[in-house]
Amino acid sequence: MHKHLDKILLSEEQLQSKVRELGARISSDYQDKNLVVLGILKGAVVFLADLIREIKVPLELDFMAVSSYGMSTHASGVVRILKDLERDIVGKDVLIIEDIVDTGLTLSYLKENLRARNPASLKICTLLDKPDRRKVPILPDYKGYNIPDEFVVGYGLDYGERYRNLPYIGVLKPEYYQD
Ligand code: IMP
Ligand code: MG
Repeated sequence: MHKHLDKILLSEEQLQSKVRELGARISSDYQDKNLVVLGILKGAVVFLADLIREIKVPLELDFMAVSSYGMSTHASGVVRILKDLERDIVGKDVLIIEDIVDTGLTLSYLKENLRARNPASLKICTLLDKPDRRKVPILPDYKGYNIPDEFVVGYGLDYGERYRNLPYIGVLKPEYYQD
């Protein structure tokens, strides 16, 4: 285990089996659809890379980047689009892939923004959810795990751009972040 962590919350094996389960559900739900997998940079890339290899129906891949935490562990509530989609999504079945839903502010903004572009459908798949932290109502359509209100890193999730490459998800020791 990385020495900055208090504990491992989700092991590599747990993550891989959850990803397989989600991939199977998505594959069966999106038969005969025009699936666009929309990854939210950068946190979702590790999850997305594993997940799409478990999706057995044709799909297009696109990405958006939005501002979130910066170096802090607190949500600012301000969402800014840093990188937009490359292709339009009119009539497409868009599945947003997120690493974690926390306050819900990012996704509630994104859903509204994307719905205005007239996709055929718009759903959310998140690996992690912290339901206790919600400020606006967001219900993910596909979810890996509910987790307690602790700051986690690894498997794409960062603190100050570090730890994304850990193959598991762990809880950061408080002395390594300023709350
Ligand atoms: P929300 O808008 O508050 O739901 O924030 C979602 C974003 O905050 C995620 O995409 C993450 O980038 C970041 N985030 C929230 N909680 C954590 C955490 O525990 N570890 C790392 N990033 C987090
Ligand atoms: Mg982040």
